Amino acid sequence: DSVTVYSPATVANVVCGFDVLGFALAAPFDTMHLRCTPEPGVVIINEDDYGLPTEPTRNVAGAALLALLRALPEPLGFEMRINKGIKPGSGIGSSAASAAGAVVAANRLLNDRFSPEELVQFAMFGEEVASGARHADNIAPAIYGGFTLIRSADPLDIVPLQAPPLHVTVVHPQIEVRTADARRILRQQVPLKDAIRQWGNVAGLVAGLLQSDYDLIGRSLEDVIVEPVRSILIPGFAAVKAASMAAGALGGGISGSGPSIFMLSRDEATAQAVGHAMRGVYEPLGVDFHIHVTTLS
Ligand code: HSE
Repeated sequence: DSVTVYSPATVANVVCGFDVLGFALAAPFDTMHLRCTPEPGVVIINEDDYGLPTEPTRNVAGAALLALLRALPEPLGFEMRINKGIKPGSGIGSSAASAAGAVVAANRLLNDRFSPEELVQFAMFGEEVASGARHADNIAPAIYGGFTLIRSADPLDIVPLQAPPLHVTVVHPQIEVRTADARRILRQQVPLKDAIRQWGNVAGLVAGLLQSDYDLIGRSLEDVIVEPVRSILIPGFAAVKAASMAAGALGGGISGSGPSIFMLSRDEATAQAVGHAMRGVYEPLGVDFHIHVTTLS
């Protein structure tokens, strides 16, 4: 018995929705092969050379799988081969993709015994290994697809959102931003006037998605709480944003905790032009970078 799943990259936060909004990308993705073994427990084989841990408790996919195994009455064993198409530390949900892929694959081998919501709960143990926080804004879209709202993480309340066609341009500057660090630098208190602006934007973005109102989506892609602090960690951030808007993007910002920056566009030609504009910022800066032009999945 074996199964192969392709688990997508995701963009968390979506500018104004820190820890509550996220969407899945059509590419890149991790490829996970899972098979049942006679010996109980989890064996991990990394098929890439990122040097990720193979000890299940220290591996995000392993920790997620162990959480699923704890929920089973019978002892079971899995061998998991992971081929990471998503570079670790890129800010497009690399850890979430592996954690989500592991539990989705296991559930398939178990004849869909668990609900998608239970799979999110298991996969959140992987996020905890990766960043110390059990946030679900990458995991939920990786498992449900499309756009998701985490109305509440505890108790978990996931709301899949309808969205109009959207094209996504992601630039990954090759610098290191650790999610744990990017969370530590955030202020713990928010002034009321900033909170008002932020929840206006979150509500506007959700309404814009549901009504396919691209202008409203664009106007709502503003973050007055997290982006001003985190963008300092990303060289060229303001220039990338300005050049992307000039190229016709609806809006965008930091993907998850960075360092990737994403921009949304209405059509593919604009998304390609945005990629060109991003290249124009990073090439002269001498920063190595990688660009993905894709759609929501
Ligand atoms: N919501 C999380 C954060 C996502 O911004 O810290 C991390 O990928």
